[in-house]
Amino acid sequence: MAMRLLPVVVVFVAATASCRPAMAFPATGMQLPGLPVAGLAVGFYNESCPQVEELVLAEMRAFVAKDWTIGPALLRFMFHDCLVRGCDASIMLVSQNKTGERDAFPSYGLRGYDEIEQIKAKVEAACPLTVSCADIIALAARDAVFLSNGPRYAVETGRRDGKMSFNIDANNDLPPPSSNIVDLKTYFSVKGLGWKDLVVLSGSHTIGRAQCSTFAADRLYNFSGKLEQDPSLNKTYAAGLRELCEPGVVNDTTPVAMDPSSPYTFDLGYYRDVVGNTSLFLSDQALMDDRWTRAYVERMAAAASPGEFFADYAVAMTNMGRIEVLTGDNGEIRKTCAAQAD
Ligand code: HEM
Ligand SMILES: *[C@@H]1O[C@H](CO)[C@@H](O)[C@H](O)[C@H]1NC(C)=O
Ligand SMILES: *[C@@H]1O[C@H](CO)[C@@H](O)[C@H](O)[C@H]1NC(C)=O
Ligand SMILES: *[C@@H]1O[C@H](CO)[C@@H](O)[C@H](O)[C@H]1NC(C)=O
Ligand SMILES: *[C@@H]1O[C@H](CO)[C@@H](O)[C@H](O)[C@H]1NC(C)=O
Ligand SMILES: *[C@@H]1O[C@H](CO)[C@@H](O)[C@H](O)[C@H]1NC(C)=O
Ligand SMILES: *[C@@H]1O[C@H](CO)[C@@H](O)[C@H](O)[C@H]1NC(C)=O
Repeated sequence: MAMRLLPVVVVFVAATASCRPAMAFPATGMQLPGLPVAGLAVGFYNESCPQVEELVLAEMRAFVAKDWTIGPALLRFMFHDCLVRGCDASIMLVSQNKTGERDAFPSYGLRGYDEIEQIKAKVEAACPLTVSCADIIALAARDAVFLSNGPRYAVETGRRDGKMSFNIDANNDLPPPSSNIVDLKTYFSVKGLGWKDLVVLSGSHTIGRAQCSTFAADRLYNFSGKLEQDPSLNKTYAAGLRELCEPGVVNDTTPVAMDPSSPYTFDLGYYRDVVGNTSLFLSDQALMDDRWTRAYVERMAAAASPGEFFADYAVAMTNMGRIEVLTGDNGEIRKTCAAQAD
């Protein structure tokens, strides 16, 4: 606990929070978007482990070549690491009592634990006890984007790993797919992320898949608890989804592409889906309910090239990568990521 309450961070937040009236929920220890974090730098391992970024990319290439669904899974992995206790690899810790982040409901369907551990093993062989699991997660997410035709943006490194992992934190801090726009902005703002980060990072749903159980009730069969289909969903698209996700199947794990026209290409397809009423989650459609996020979605849906989205994505991922990080002497660098938390 004490390590999250560094005096310097507290003073820093107190000094800047008043200049940011839009931040409704200043949380202790959070960092504000756009401001650099002491201890993080692009190329933190330049001297101590110069080959780390190549090693991560080589492993990611091998994983994706074997199974292209693993790329999106590892992108989502960073989101689940960073929103809960900060980007500290606490998602990797294992709880004997099943009370860790892994065991929490929002971690349902999360994949990538083994892959992160395998990358860590390769990195340990080259640079023992040097590179944190949290940095490996951030680099793997970047390469997941790159290997699906997205940008290869610069990633800050220098994070260290946390030692605690609690399911209650994951339950509280990860937005459910049923979230409305007010919920979404709140979940993000408590972590120091603004509407722009929300609408840009949601663009991650341009790759990957979701299981029927995550959206079928909300959108197809029990919209607003009224046993109807979401009226805002494109009817043709909904009919197709109803075939994939049959009614009455408990915990339906059938995977459905989130951007069916290009499920493994990191492009503007997501924004076209949202504008065209063919996005999967209520939380995706909800981006149309705020004038700023809506304007962004509409501009990206109409854009001729993904350049602006890619540049914004690099900034937003950097912001997410700075959430409540442990640096310097805080946290640890451990040999394996999936250490026991209790
Ligand atoms: C804005 C709030 C968000 C909500 C409510 C949300 C919710 C979800 C849900 C329910 C799934 C399906 C999981 C499954 O069925 O296995 C999913 C998948 C995914 N999410 Fe999000 N997400 C959000 C933001 C993000 C962010 C910020 C990122 C990355 C930076 C992200 C990346 C992904 C990816 C890549 C997948 C596909 C995973 C796969 O194919 O295995 N999401 N998301
Ligand atoms: C590491 O090297 C890269 C490329 O030369 C440079 O851009 C970066 O600033 C360096 N970072 C550190 C922390 O030395
Ligand atoms: C986990 O369970 C064991 C055995 O029931 C108990 O002794 C221990 O205190 C628990 N640990 C935590 C962190 O709850
Ligand atoms: C539909 O949603 C309502 C409200 O959440 C719930 O009480 C009801 O059990 C749901 N019905 C079905 C069939 O899932
Ligand atoms: C719904 O989507 C289909 C393609 O999935 C498209 O052909 C149709 O025009 C859309 N309908 C409306 C009302 O937008
Ligand atoms: C469905 O998922 C819920 C929540 O994870 C779980 O409590 C329940 O046992 C599952 N039901 C079945 C039939 O698998
Ligand atoms: C999407 O749905 C809204 C109403 O919910 C409607 O006004 C709009 O025209 C629809 N867009 C498309 C492309 O069908």
